[in-house]
Amino acid sequence: MHIAIIMDGNGRWAARRNLNRQAGHRAGARAADAIVRAAARRGVDTLTLYAFSSENWFRPQPEVEALFGLLRRYLITETDRCLGESIRLNVIGRRDRLNSTLRAQIEQSEQLTAACSRMHLRIAVDYSSRYSIMEAGRRLQTIPLSAPGDYLRHLAEVDHSDPATAEVDLLIRTAGEKRLSDFLLWECAYAELLFLDCLWPDFDETAFAQALEEYSRRQRRFGRIPAAQDAAERPGG
Ligand code: IPE
Ligand code: IPE
Ligand code: MG
Repeated sequence: MHIAIIMDGNGRWAARRNLNRQAGHRAGARAADAIVRAAARRGVDTLTLYAFSSENWFRPQPEVEALFGLLRRYLITETDRCLGESIRLNVIGRRDRLNSTLRAQIEQSEQLTAACSRMHLRIAVDYSSRYSIMEAGRRLQTIPLSAPGDYLRHLAEVDHSDPATAEVDLLIRTAGEKRLSDFLLWECAYAELLFLDCLWPDFDETAFAQALEEYSRRQRRFGRIPAAQDAAERPGG
């Protein structure tokens, strides 16, 4: 199972407490840490977290710097924890606009955890789904229309990820906004979407368990009709 999360609401969480936005992002990083562990315990195969979109570069410079400082520290501490829990860490998105220290840290975290197999944790940084789709198309020159699944392989290559983990089963967005903000557009073609009012720093293991429960009640059809009805409708059924 692949769960993708748009971790939104750090700024509003901080504002409600009269704190600055950076404090909200620190609280958000703590929440992410707890959810990574909860997901691994619950047998999630892949967890993709949206940490920084390509549009987030347009935020005030101090906030951008704080976010990247937090990310660098997060990668350092998270790598050790991932090794301890056999979680493979992978950063998806563009790398050409990241500074060389961060790039080196990303490569090191990925190499160290490459053989970990319990869960695949993907962190989306400088990520734009439209960019990935366009870049994969540009590299291929023609998009293989017969095989959307095949295209995922090329997208994964652009994103520095791997194709085995591409299709999203459940997309969660916190903080009440009901939009995708350029996250995994192709990969969410048949994802179940779950929009929650909870602000990201308040999203804890209980909320995560509730989200999984909600997902288990959804009926996924992929364009078909439910299996029992299908059997009844077919000749001899
Ligand atoms: C999500 O929280 C974190 C990032 C986008 C990096 P926001 O910072 O978007 O929080 P709100 O939406 O302003 O509350
Ligand atoms: C999406 O949240 C990006 C991340 C959570 C990293 P934003 O807060 O940037 O999205 P918009 O601006 O509300 O669409
Ligand atoms: Mg936001």
